[in-house]
Amino acid sequence: MDIITRPIDIVDTHTHILPSIDDGSSSVTESVSLIKTLIHQGVDTIVLTPHYYFSEISTDSFLENRKLAFSQLLDEPEIHNINLILGAEVYFSIYLHSIERLSELCIGGTKYLLLELPFMKKIDSRTISYIEKIIYNNNLIPVIAHAERYLSIGKKNIEAIQLLDEMGCMIQLNAESFLIKPLQKHCLKIIETGAVVALGSDSHNMKDRKPEMNRAIQFLSDTYGNDVTRGVINNAKLILSGKDAFLNA
Ligand SMILES: [Fe+2]
Repeated sequence: MDIITRPIDIVDTHTHILPSIDDGSSSVTESVSLIKTLIHQGVDTIVLTPHYYFSEISTDSFLENRKLAFSQLLDEPEIHNINLILGAEVYFSIYLHSIERLSELCIGGTKYLLLELPFMKKIDSRTISYIEKIIYNNNLIPVIAHAERYLSIGKKNIEAIQLLDEMGCMIQLNAESFLIKPLQKHCLKIIETGAVVALGSDSHNMKDRKPEMNRAIQFLSDTYGNDVTRGVINNAKLILSGKDAFLNA
């Protein structure tokens, strides 16, 4: 069950805030700190996206674990003014398109699936062809997780990201990457292609991977102005509206 209690404005599309389910938050206390930090940064809707690896866990077990972790958060009296939405960060596999219950890994019952690609040198044509299957066989819309990172491992990956955008994928960028060189340059390069971009904090903990949504939004605003910034914020809202992404930043 997802909790939407208020109108949506700023969405964090990618987090590891659910307690003790992956390499993110290690306790309910840490999860509450992360959520409170995001609220303080102006976020009112958080998508909870624990790592899912097809080769390591059955979808049934993952969904059960996610449900249990989520239920721990629901007991927390301090968390009120926030919408919490279930999702997953699904690691790429050539078998993804054929697994049962794939749609249950999507963000909050929508068609959007946060998809993490392998850190290979190049996003090759074989990978692209299997992403196509997810789009056309499963009728889902991949959201390419932290796309800026793939530019660090292969310069040609910018062309692959453009192609994925043209195929209808949404491109997710990590907030903290806007604050770190050379990832900042990669983020700007992707935005300047006109790709449909959404922000996510990819926050894991309160130490070295804490939420940076407000600083990223400020950086975007300082660099491109309010229209582009609002466009990026609205793209994340599109995910939850259930509509297909078509607005360019
Ligand atoms: Fe992540």
